Amino acid sequence: MKSALINSFGNIEEIIIGEIDIPLLKKDELLIEVYAAGLNPKDILIRKGKFKVLTGSRFPQQIGFEISGVVKDANNSTKYKKGDRIFGMINGWKGRCCSEYLNILENELYYMPKNISFEEASGVSLVGQTVLQALRDRANMQRGYKVCINGASGGVGTLAIQIAKDLGGEVTAITSYRNMDFCKSLGADHVVDYTKKDITKLDEKFDVFFDVFGNYSLKRISEILNKNGRYVTTIPKMGIFKEEFLNFFRRKKSKLIIVKSRSEDLKWLCDKIEKGKIKPVVDKIFPLVDIRMAQKYIESKRAKGKVIIKIKDNNTALDL
Ligand SMILES: NC(=O)c1ccc[n+]([C@@H]2O[C@H](COP(=O)([O-])OP(=O)(O)OC[C@H]3O[C@@H](n4cnc5c(N)ncnc54)[C@H](OP(=O)(O)O)[C@@H]3O)[C@@H](O)[C@H]2O)c1
Repeated sequence: MKSALINSFGNIEEIIIGEIDIPLLKKDELLIEVYAAGLNPKDILIRKGKFKVLTGSRFPQQIGFEISGVVKDANNSTKYKKGDRIFGMINGWKGRCCSEYLNILENELYYMPKNISFEEASGVSLVGQTVLQALRDRANMQRGYKVCINGASGGVGTLAIQIAKDLGGEVTAITSYRNMDFCKSLGADHVVDYTKKDITKLDEKFDVFFDVFGNYSLKRISEILNKNGRYVTTIPKMGIFKEEFLNFFRRKKSKLIIVKSRSEDLKWLCDKIEKGKIKPVVDKIFPLVDIRMAQKYIESKRAKGKVIIKIKDNNTALDL
């Protein structure tokens, strides 16, 4: 099968499309024919060797953590059958989703929402679960909370606005002048241009500051956080364990989200999408052969929503 691979850590020139064997299935794994894969900044950091300790340094290494597709071999599953349309995210640090076929654990996937395309569905599971687990679990978000989202126009941020609204929040989106209207169109109640305003000196106080872009800290935004407020970041920084320890002694808390793929959270996302409460935002779609360009675009940090790799044509969707 075709798969995007790297043979050493480095820049985008390291990415090639190679031929490798279709994966053999282990217990509880299904074989998926991949129709589309979502790209993420994590893929770029891994390609650059920033997570060597976790990925190991054996090559070739495959790329990508989230997909949509069709079950090709349901293995021992009692829930899924050949032909089911699914979406999902693989846990861990060894990507392998930008491939024609993928082995994935049953609890890392769920049925694909019926009202969206394969391309839209492929970019939901990593960012959607990140937002849900950050706001619901790490921030313990309640209805009526004032939520500030920094980095609101990217892959995570576009779903963060919508999910925070669905959870009953009043949402302030931090973005550049480029994306102010865009964030409003996604449901943000207020938008602030970070290129013009010092965020740490806003007049409002928030119950949750979701630092998607990751360039703040609890210390820096403490003045704009309510007394029991929570700062949640997507970026593990030096001193994070100290921060978690200090949480025992202070009312304002600092939390890190490390997303984990779970069927029940994918079901939550599927239900919300099917009810029209959340709409995935796709910025650009690239064919697999242009994966270098797609990664270059993510590296620009200007993506408005998700960057997707299309792997198989939809009109052959039921060609099993
Ligand atoms: N820990 C986890 O489990 C986890 C999970 C998912 C993602 N992440 C991390 O979360 C981060 C965001 O991911 P993503 O997929 O949303 O990235 P992304 O889609 O690449 O984000 C692009 C967005 O960032 C905005 N941006 C650029 N510079 C900014 C700045 N200085 N301040 C605020 N916004 C800025 C851009 O908007 P403008 O053009 O308006 O500036 C653009 O729309 C990444 O570092 C990723 O690795 C972590």
